[in-house]
Amino acid sequence: MGRLDGKVAIVTGAGRGLGKGIALKLAEEGAKVVVGDVLEDIAAACAQEIKEAGGEAIAVAANIAKLAEVEALYAATEKAYGRIDIVVNNAGINRDAMLHKTTDEQWDAVIGVNLTGTFYMVREAAKRMREQESGRIINVSSMSWMGNVGQANYAASKAGVIGLTRTAARELARKGVTCNAICPGFIDTDMTRGVPEKVWDLMVSKIPAGRAGAPRDVGNMIAFLASDEAAYINGQIIDVSGGMVL
Ligand code: NAI
Repeated sequence: MGRLDGKVAIVTGAGRGLGKGIALKLAEEGAKVVVGDVLEDIAAACAQEIKEAGGEAIAVAANIAKLAEVEALYAATEKAYGRIDIVVNNAGINRDAMLHKTTDEQWDAVIGVNLTGTFYMVREAAKRMREQESGRIINVSSMSWMGNVGQANYAASKAGVIGLTRTAARELARKGVTCNAICPGFIDTDMTRGVPEKVWDLMVSKIPAGRAGAPRDVGNMIAFLASDEAAYINGQIIDVSGGMVL
């Protein structure tokens, strides 16, 4: 028996990295997982891995920055499983540059995926979860929301996700729906492996736990927030960073 037996979960950006760790954990806890990703092949591979481990999953290719693809992701989930209990908005990108060098394209790309894409996902979730009077929405923000050198676009998008989360929490609480945000610190994924070794070492040196996080560290918190046990936790911004910010 898992904590999420019988629940249906959508995880965006679940083809690799954090999203994959989250999808695997939710499946282990008994959820039927819809593995969403803009990259079809890695979404399919993750769904296959879940099935081989005895879980239930489907893969759906969807770019969350495009409303029609978000609508299709929800439609595919309802067609496969008939309902949606948990939505984890994990898909995100970075296009780092110092503010004075940030191009319009870098700004628009990051806001388009991280903030507008998350808004599309949360709005579709809200429509359905209000009606069914239950649900869990978990948004992946970042410690960078507080401001980070070279990440004006990313920090603004992740701060926006926090405003969106807190508003959704206030609006949906009476309907039995919670909406929380996770702020991962420095997690070992393709996104962070993209930084120079010097920066990697500097980041890890700031973590009291003495190591970068693993996608599973974040998955564990998300599985808890998605469970019935977390019914009274709402609108919170939860740091999963090995104590990086104390
Ligand atoms: P990643 O780059 O390894 O994986 C991101 C996944 O999202 C990829 O599978 C990618 O194909 C997918 N994706 C990208 N754009 C998409 C779109 N428009 N629609 C659907 N899927 C899309 O990144 P990582 O590290 O796993 O990050 C996941 C989330 O966690 C992001 O929102 C990121 O901002 C956030 N985060 C990551 C941290 C870290 O240390 N790795 C720290 C704080 C936040």
